[in-house]
This record gives sequence, C-alpha cells and structure tokens, in this order.
Amino acid sequence: MKVGFLGFGEVASTLSVGLMKNGADVYTCVEGRSTRTKNNILKTGVETYPSYKALAENCDIIVSSVIPSNAIEVAEMVGKYSTGIYVDINNISPKTVVNTLDKIENGKTVDAAIIGSVVKKGVEVKVIAAGSCANEFADLNNYGMNITVIGSVNGQASGIKLLRSSYTKGVSALLFESIYQAYKMGIDREVLKYISETECPDFIESAKSRIISAAFHAQRRSEEMDEVVEIFSKKQDPIMARGTMDFFKILDQTFKKPEKRPVDYNEIFEYLMKIKE
Ligand SMILES: NC(=O)c1ccc[n+]([C@@H]2O[C@H](COP(=O)([O-])OP(=O)(O)OC[C@H]3O[C@@H](n4cnc5c(N)ncnc54)[C@H](OP(=O)(O)O)[C@@H]3O)[C@@H](O)[C@H]2O)c1
Repeated sequence: MKVGFLGFGEVASTLSVGLMKNGADVYTCVEGRSTRTKNNILKTGVETYPSYKALAENCDIIVSSVIPSNAIEVAEMVGKYSTGIYVDINNISPKTVVNTLDKIENGKTVDAAIIGSVVKKGVEVKVIAAGSCANEFADLNNYGMNITVIGSVNGQASGIKLLRSSYTKGVSALLFESIYQAYKMGIDREVLKYISETECPDFIESAKSRIISAAFHAQRRSEEMDEVVEIFSKKQDPIMARGTMDFFKILDQTFKKPEKRPVDYNEIFEYLMKIKE
C-alpha cells in the first residue's frame, strides 16, 4: 500500500510513523516546503517524490494534511494527476470540503475528519470518513489507523466534526461565564460541586481544564465558530452558535494570552477582574 501525504506537519508525520510501523510505504514531496517540514520528513524517514505530480500519480491513497486555507489550492494542484483515492483531512467546513474534492478529476474522494488529539493518540487517533471511496480508505485500518466510515456523501464527516465542536465550545462558553460569575461571588467551588452531582464523575477536573482552555485558545475557538455559523442555512438563525462565537471573540480581545497555559482558572479570573472592574 503506497500512501502519500500533501503537507508534512504534525498530522502527516505522526500518522506516517504508525503507518510505516504497520507495513505501509509512505511518501511525500519537499518541493517548496519550509525547513520545519523538511526536518519532519528527514526525522520520519519517509520516501519523497521530486514533484507533487509524481506523488499524485504514484500513490494508492493521497492524504491532504496542509493548512485549512490551502486545502483547495493543493487539490487544484494535483486534481488532474491523482490516480488513486484523494482524502481531505483538513479542518474545513462541509461546503469547502465539497469545493475541494470537486477538483479531483477521477472522482475517487474521501472527506475525513480527525476526532481527538493526533499527538496524544498517534496513528490510532479516531478518524471518521465519508465519500465515495471511504470504505477503501478504511483499508488503512490494516496498517494501524482507526477509521470509521460514517456515510457516503462528501461533507458528512466534516459536518459531524464541526457540529460536535459547536456543541463542546458552546458548553465551554457557558461554563466559563457561569463559573466566572460564581468566582466573583465566592461560590465557584460550590457551583461546580452541585453541577457535578448530575454530570460525570470527573466533571470538576474536566470543567477546570475547559475553563482554562477556553481562555488560552479563545482566538482559535472564535475562528472555528465562524466556520460553524457559516454552515447553518439562511433560514435557521443559529443564535447559540453565534453567541458562542461572540463570546470567544470578546474573551480573545480581553484576555491577554500568556506564554504558558495557566494551571488554575484563578489566574484568568483575577486578570479579567482587574481589567474589567
Ligand atoms: N494537529 C492536529 O491535531 C489536527 C487535528 C485535526 C485536524 N487537523 C488538521 O489537519 C491539517 C494538518 O494539520 P497539522 O497540525 O499537521 O498542520 P501543520 O503542522 O501546520 O502542517 C501543515 C503542513 O502543510 C504544509 N503545507 C502548507 N501549505 C501547503 C501547500 N500549499 N502545499 C503543500 N504543503 C503545504 C506545511 O508546509 P510548510 O511548513 O512548508 O508551510 C506543513 O508541512 C490542518 O488542516 C488541521 O486543521 C490537525
């Protein structure tokens, strides 16, 4: 099985290590890439083709793991050369996925989404897939991957990812807002304790971590919520999703992101209280 990667950052290098360990042949191309990417390629020891054309013509499966804003551009670049299955695994909206995969002339496409952390889980990270060739892509489970086919239409996998993310970010925003108010009233521990009675056993620890992440990653969250708002139809006004997006935008503007992730939410709340009140 010959697997090619377009882009060789965190996702490609992590998956490649596991795929090669399980017997797959992995390839990429260094043309135009940064020193960081070239180092990733050297460290991982994957083979390279001299051009993206050659990469696309020679691989059974080609995975696009670039940056969301370049997903369409790279599909356009190799669209007429791709002979195997083309998989887009970038964090992009269902609409962008469809536009991206439309560039692949042989029509053998897969919309894939990573659910979870590649760094923590390695090649076994959960991947969901949809599209005409999703079942063939899932053959990579024989090479260590953990792919679940959830549908046959491009946009379904990225839709699940985005709407799941809308839910989790909405909950984080509400949690942050409620516990910040409780903190100012000196009852934050008690509020967390009483919520935990109807939630899962590790609720308090996970709530604290979500509050810290909400502030630390506020900019990224607000950008991702922008994408979420876009997928709703014009007729359905996504009040909650828009509220979540606005929440993270305001948090990003008010909380100055420190170098290191705070260890306790007190640091964030104290900072906000000082500048706001
Ligand atoms: N990391 C995660 O845990 C995770 C989880 C879910 C989804 N994703 C998605 O997976 C994708 C890859 O993520 P990542 O973390 O691996 O990103 P990354 O570490 O930033 O790597 C991106 C790679 O794409 C290359 N690239 C950018 N533009 C390109 C182009 N036009 N042609 C060829 N290569 C290009 C970059 O090369 P240069 O260095 O030369 O620019 C780099 O090697 C993203 O869309 C991300 O949203 C990531």
